[in-house]
Amino acid sequence: MPLQPRRSHWTLPLLGGGRAQVTCRYRCGDQCGQPPSNDSANTYFGDLLSGVFGRRGLLRAGAVLGAVGVVGTGPTPARAATPPVGLGFTPVRPNSGDAVVVPEGYEQRIVLRWGDPVVPGAPEFDFDDQTAEAQERQFGYNNDFCTLLPLPDGRRLMVNNHEYTSEEFLFSGYDGENPTEEQVRIAWAAHGLSVVVVDRSDDGAPTVVLDRLNRRITLNTEFEVRGPAASSELLKTPSDPSGRRVRGTMNNCSGSVTPWGTVLSGEENVHQYFAHADRVTDPRTKRRLDRYGFMAGESERKWERFDSRWDLGREPNEANRFGWIVEIDPHDPDSTPVKHTALGRLKHETATVRVAEDGRVVAYMGDDEAFEYLYKFVSHGTMKPGGSAHARRHNMSLLEKGTLYVARFSGDSPAAEIDGSGALPADGEFDGSGEWLPLAGGAKSYVPGFTAEEVYVFTRLAADAVGATKMDRPEDVQPNPVNGRVYCALTNNSNRGTPGHAPVDETNPRIGNKHGHVLEMDDDATGTRFSWTLLLVCGDPEDSNTYFGGFDKSRVSPISCPDNLAFDRHGNLWITTDSSAALGANDGLYAVPVDGPQRGCLKQFLSVPRGAETCGPVIDDEFVLVSAQHPGEVDGADADHPVSHWPDGGDSRPRPSVVAVWR
Ligand code: FEO
Ligand code: CA
Ligand code: CA
Repeated sequence: MPLQPRRSHWTLPLLGGGRAQVTCRYRCGDQCGQPPSNDSANTYFGDLLSGVFGRRGLLRAGAVLGAVGVVGTGPTPARAATPPVGLGFTPVRPNSGDAVVVPEGYEQRIVLRWGDPVVPGAPEFDFDDQTAEAQERQFGYNNDFCTLLPLPDGRRLMVNNHEYTSEEFLFSGYDGENPTEEQVRIAWAAHGLSVVVVDRSDDGAPTVVLDRLNRRITLNTEFEVRGPAASSELLKTPSDPSGRRVRGTMNNCSGSVTPWGTVLSGEENVHQYFAHADRVTDPRTKRRLDRYGFMAGESERKWERFDSRWDLGREPNEANRFGWIVEIDPHDPDSTPVKHTALGRLKHETATVRVAEDGRVVAYMGDDEAFEYLYKFVSHGTMKPGGSAHARRHNMSLLEKGTLYVARFSGDSPAAEIDGSGALPADGEFDGSGEWLPLAGGAKSYVPGFTAEEVYVFTRLAADAVGATKMDRPEDVQPNPVNGRVYCALTNNSNRGTPGHAPVDETNPRIGNKHGHVLEMDDDATGTRFSWTLLLVCGDPEDSNTYFGGFDKSRVSPISCPDNLAFDRHGNLWITTDSSAALGANDGLYAVPVDGPQRGCLKQFLSVPRGAETCGPVIDDEFVLVSAQHPGEVDGADADHPVSHWPDGGDSRPRPSVVAVWR
């Protein structure tokens, strides 16, 4: 497939969901509107592994059909009087208001907004007089991931990712053909992460403290490259002949907290920031760039006019320095953050780590693009318990050496029963088994024709070569700390099963998958086999092609395009959505029990304002935090024509924010 020309701004995207075209442009460089990057012949491996691993012995004991619930108004059996543990709220109704809508009896408050001071001494936000110098010390734009970490004094650290900038909403009168250098520098400073201390306020929700631990990480922050591809020729550039020092991180989407108390974050749609892939002449380099979606011509944001590192014709290796999992130690504001090459280079949503019984750590990862793959990493070393400086240093090295795998799935039903409509096969479930295929371990490559360095830097191509299963946009992949099973959000894939694209399979069973699904895996953490089932096949429950864990569909909330996942202490799964416009409503946060008679009883907890996406949920015992990303980002709107005035009201411009909700 030749390098892709950039789409013009006024052509309609071929979207599976209802995401605004302006969001597609700025968030992922119109990824859904381009032909899929994965044109490998690796299409379908069907039932190669069928029967090798009996899933029923591994997964929960049988499906729960006809269970009772608490959602809905019809008569219910006596057992229905008990709500799912931890989910005693009345669900909010799908809506299109310009507000965060929470269940009756719940309160809400903004914790932090784009432009609010983060570093002590930072200026207050002034939209009309914004500077790069101010933005370097203020909360960045389009916050996605959010988490809280405990501090010894009872306060907490809140860490947020700033995924991308939407320049038309950052600047009044923005001219996309001629951005100013200051606008570009503001955008560099608005990317990255924020670390802030939060304390408990009188209302019980977190409130920001301007503390010396607070920090901004931006596209100007130096990172150290670690792991097997550090110092590789593939990572060396004129400004970094060592291949070990990279300036900045970008498109940080989701994240996680490691068992040793650091934060991981995924560099996702990094291709869109680079220009002139068509000026690369070496065929092998062109093929590699194309597989990651790098495009011809000028970039959307025109950064290449102000720094040659964004020009692939001049510095093609700079592209190889983004697309990694990064690790931040938020407890040390002077620490140098790390890019981990052992976890491969993808459009990383994030990596989520758990500790196996033998002490090795396992990281699960999704590559968020249509027809991309699911990965895991198993460390070679084991975790040291305790919080000593020595243990911490050791544990922070665990992600530098291990084995990287990619997943191949197999269904247990005959292929003829997977007809693309979403109708369940005769055995009543979309389910089966799977295998983790090794790609590289330390300095050893398991992929013929690839060196280990090539596996780590061009991981997608290595995964193509071993026959991984093409998935419907794998986003968050997270182990449930209560039941041990692993859950993966598959957001959507409008091209699934359409002419010229990979057909449906039991793991991705709907043609033109508009609303996505949620996968549940029972994984032998450090081993190579797993079983799986689809917990949710999303959409309007009145639509026959949906499935809610076997629960009574008249009693669940509609849901579309699952994205971020979290668990409460009862093991209930919480899900944020990205593109509920596909159902004609604002995005939201949902909760669903995954065990017991109410497995599949999905309820909507809140909705975010018009044009916004819900991200980064934190489910605390006393409150919930969510990121309301890109409020008001709908086609035709911009900073001079806002259609959302959230959160400040009146005629204000919208500001991406973290919101706390509590009862
Ligand atoms: Fe940035 Fe995969 O969402
Ligand atoms: Ca089946
Ligand atoms: Ca996401």
